[in-house]
Amino acid sequence: MPGPRPRRSWTRRALIALLLTLVAIFGGAALAWWKLLLPGEQAFANDDARFKYGSLNGELLAGIPYPIFMILPRVFPDLVEKHATAGWGPDKPRHGGYGAFGFAWEPGERLPIGFSIRQLGFERVTVNCALCHTTRYRLTPDDQPRFALGGPAHTADMQGFLGFLFDAARDRRFTTTRLMPEIALQFDLGWTDWALYSFVLVPATRLALRLGADQMAWTKTRPAWGPGRDDAFNLPKFVLTQAKWDDSVGNTDFPALWRMGQRNGHLMHWGAEARSVAAVVASSALGTGALPFGDFEERNRWMEAFMREMAPPAWPFPLDAGLVARGRQVFAGACAACHDPRGPRAGTAIPLSEIGTDPEHVKTWTQADADRMNRLTRFLGIENATMQAAQGYVARPLVGVWLLAPYLHNGSVPTLADLLAPPAERPAVFHRGYEVIDRERVGFVSSEREAERRGFRFDTALRGNGKDGHLYGTALPPEDKRALIEYLKTL
Ligand code: HEC
Ligand code: HEC
Repeated sequence: MPGPRPRRSWTRRALIALLLTLVAIFGGAALAWWKLLLPGEQAFANDDARFKYGSLNGELLAGIPYPIFMILPRVFPDLVEKHATAGWGPDKPRHGGYGAFGFAWEPGERLPIGFSIRQLGFERVTVNCALCHTTRYRLTPDDQPRFALGGPAHTADMQGFLGFLFDAARDRRFTTTRLMPEIALQFDLGWTDWALYSFVLVPATRLALRLGADQMAWTKTRPAWGPGRDDAFNLPKFVLTQAKWDDSVGNTDFPALWRMGQRNGHLMHWGAEARSVAAVVASSALGTGALPFGDFEERNRWMEAFMREMAPPAWPFPLDAGLVARGRQVFAGACAACHDPRGPRAGTAIPLSEIGTDPEHVKTWTQADADRMNRLTRFLGIENATMQAAQGYVARPLVGVWLLAPYLHNGSVPTLADLLAPPAERPAVFHRGYEVIDRERVGFVSSEREAERRGFRFDTALRGNGKDGHLYGTALPPEDKRALIEYLKTL
């Protein structure tokens, strides 16, 4: 009997081994691609829905696996409690915990407005522009929450939300053993997904959140943002351009994105840090973790076009036509030069020495900071995103003023009536983040018991929170002020 020829058998075995290795590598790669990177499409019925829930393509760098995201508040209820804005507790049972951070959550949706769920291998949660640019409000304490797309998210507590995620990632309970049973309760995982979550996604999410916490540690040494604000220019400075931490405080109120079509040729951002809407859109997208490839340009153009037309809801209560007419005259005399879209100073930066409002935001962003940012955007191949040093505060056309409270770049003045009072008479402490409209003084209710229970205590004595300046209209006779406020409701 001829025995097997050892040489051939060796080659054959080597070949089979090679083949198996290749199958394993390619199969593994295909599996990994399918499980980790297979992109999904999002479909939206209209532009509003796309604005609210559309992805900015930040999944790769900033996406959190949806099942992990959803179970964190259940695993760490104590940390929700620790970081929630005072009285937002009652929302918790209904909204999986994240309601405690004051987001605008529509009934029946999987996540609040401003969160996108898109598949990249698995479903990943990212944030979009609507998170900070959608107003949640109620007309009376018994009213259901209403949502104004494009308005300032004055109830959204970004610092609380991030603080919750970061603390969770550093907690001893953030382990596969603790998280997997909780995930399995709510999500139907096959064995590959079970392995993927246990060995890859839970540890990777923990690591990514811990790195995020390190990047944001500078926020702990400055006054809290509270709901409706973030440190708009220290974020790109310290996180995107990795500049050395300084001690500046740039806490900034979320602005509205309404009627951007009126802003052609205007300086943008509170401090005139940008010269066009396009520059703001590109840098904001980058700031949320969007990658500057693929549909980046196309999406930014869509966003810009959408913002050109976006408009606020009309004042929802009766108006006194006679007072409005009189107020229009007062406005034309005292305010229009700066706040009418065609006013000679509209869209220009009013220097600090003239406007007199809190200077800290302007001090955050120097030309050196802008240069670093410009080098980064140029390196990434982004056109037209040039930034410049803050110049003062921009006089913007007033649009949807009744929903812009609290007023000024730092949100330091709770109502229009207070803004028209001399600074010494403006409230030194008030509560922000309560969402019921103050019909008389125009803004949100900021001093009643409910506002104190559900709101964030805003202290104008803290750095960056000053209520001084903007003296326009403060010396008007009371009747003119009343008329002016009536007119401002119509803008
Ligand atoms: C985490 C909260 C947050 C997110 C997310 C966010 N923004 Fe903003 N946005 C701000 C803050 C705060 C400012 C004020 C900064 C300033 O103007 O100094 C601002 C300012 C702006 C302005 C300037 C408004 C003006 O009148 O000058 C525009 C336009 C804008 N954002 C668009 C966007 C777009 C588009 C996106 C999504 C790609 C986005 N924002 C995402 C917080 C956010
Ligand atoms: C010389 C230009 C100028 C004049 C005149 C002026 N403003 Fe302003 N206004 C500004 C600037 C600049 C800001 C932003 C200041 C800041 O946030 O620190 C501002 C902010 C505001 C805001 C806050 C907007 C927001 O989003 O929080 C309101 C409301 C306002 N002005 C109303 C008025 C009214 C009413 C008058 C007339 C009585 C008036 N202004 C006159 C320049 C002006």
